[in-house]
Parts: sequence; structure tokens; C-alpha cells
Amino acid sequence: MARLCVVGLGYVGLVTASCFASLGHGVVGLDKDQGKIDLLSRGVSTFFEPGLDELLKNGLGKSLLSFTDDFKTAVSQAEIVFICVGTPPHENGMAEMSQVEEVSRCIAGSMNGYKLIVEKSTVPAGTAL
Ligand SMILES: NC(=O)c1ccc[n+]([C@@H]2O[C@H](COP(=O)([O-])OP(=O)(O)OC[C@H]3O[C@@H](n4cnc5c(N)ncnc54)[C@H](O)[C@@H]3O)[C@@H](O)[C@H]2O)c1
Repeated sequence: MARLCVVGLGYVGLVTASCFASLGHGVVGLDKDQGKIDLLSRGVSTFFEPGLDELLKNGLGKSLLSFTDDFKTAVSQAEIVFICVGTPPHENGMAEMSQVEEVSRCIAGSMNGYKLIVEKSTVPAGTAL
């Protein structure tokens, strides 16, 4: 089973992290919001999604799912890193990319070997080039 890190624990990232843990993968969920990390670590979901509470509690109980705000630890232990931070639209429709750029720099600063980086946030075509 793979060792995963999911960066950004909003609607997309928390569901992604919980589902991969339910499949038996080891997942570290990372967010900069310490309040969110505290709640999730106690098995308290930060929004309602059918079935999510159960997946969250099962993942924590089996030690397949954990949460942190520490990039160095989370990224260095992972084989695959998912970027799931927000990209809200500007008034002109362009995506606000600052969160993706910030976490990309944090991931780069925590690299200790080859990683597969999966860009799951909605971004303009060509962003990864
Ligand atoms: N919500 C949906 O149904 C949906 C569907 C399709 C695509 N998307 C896309 O997926 C992406 C994520 O959407 P969402 O709704 O989950 O966003 P969200 O705003 O709910 O969650 C983003 C999370 O990223 C965290 N974050 C921001 N900067 C960070 C940093 N520097 N380090 C660590 N964590 C950081 C925030 O604290 C927040 O918890 C967006 O690009 C969105 O367009 C969302």
C-alpha cells in the first residue's frame, strides 16, 4: 500500500484522504489551519458529507489516517503528494493560484527524494508545465 500526503483538508482534500485510507493506504492529511487539524485528529469532521464521519473514525482507529500542519514530516514520509488547496476565481474568472504556489514551495522545501505530485486543485491548463 502507498504512503500518501494530502495537502489542503477542505471538501476535496478531506474526502480524498479519508477514502484512500479506507482502501488501506497510509495517509497524512496536512493543513495550515491548526484548529482544523485538532478537530480532525479527534475524529470530528469539519463539514457534512454522507459517510465521511465513519471513514474518518475508521482511518484514525486503524492508524491509517493522521493529520498535521508539519510539511517536513508529512512530505518526507510520502511517496505521493496530492495538492488539494483552494483556487477561488477572480472577478475576471481567472483562478487565484497563490495557495497552489505557496504549498508547491513548501513541498519543494521538504523533498527528500522522488515524489509523485498530483495536482488535484482546479487549475488552468498548462499549470504543471
Ligand atoms: N469543493 C468541491 O466540490 C470541488 C469540486 C471540484 C473541484 N474543486 C477544486 O478543488 C480545490 C479544493 O477545493 P475545496 O473546496 O476543497 O477548497 P477549500 O477552500 O474547502 O479547502 C482548501 C484547504 O486548503 C488549506 N490551505 C490553504 N493554503 C494552505 C497552505 N499553504 N498549506 C496548507 N493548507 C492550506 C485551507 O486551510 C483549506 O482547509 C479547488 O481548486 C476547487 O476548485 C472543488
